[in-house]
Amino acid sequence: MSVFKRIWQFVRAVTARVTVEDGKYISAHLNAEEQKIFFAMSVADQCHSLRTAYTIERLVIEDKRGVDREFLIRCALLHDTGRRAGDLTIKGKIFVVLITSFAPKFAERLELNGNRALHVYHHHAELGAQKLQQIGLFKEAKIIAKHHAPPKPNDPPELKLLRLADDEN
Ligand SMILES: [Fe+2]
Ligand SMILES: [Fe+2]
Repeated sequence: MSVFKRIWQFVRAVTARVTVEDGKYISAHLNAEEQKIFFAMSVADQCHSLRTAYTIERLVIEDKRGVDREFLIRCALLHDTGRRAGDLTIKGKIFVVLITSFAPKFAERLELNGNRALHVYHHHAELGAQKLQQIGLFKEAKIIAKHHAPPKPNDPPELKLLRLADDEN
């Protein structure tokens, strides 16, 4: 991802708000348990996940492979739930992005020494998948666990669409 896109993401992150309409959308697509882990994310991540879901709706309409729309909306809304608010603040995220890009070896050492922000940032896909498994969303967990893994030719279409939508937002 380009530096400009990263900066734009940070600007959006500090000005992010969940609107009444967004709230209705969340209640229409997530049950109480799912909402609990959704709202445990920072507002910035909630907004990013909402935008990812809105993009995925558009991609589903264009896609002709017969993917499950509701399933994909759930995946989009919950894909970053491994990043709980407090575990990874905006400041923490800026720190992680800068240190990983400019001093990757140092970042690795810090992570091995137990740096929480680095750990959550790099492992949020697996952490989120574990959370989803705990509430019985096994199919969603399987897709979400791999959303930052290097793409493979035999990846399921749902995973490809999630990555596309995530990347746009
Ligand atoms: Fe992610
Ligand atoms: Fe994401």
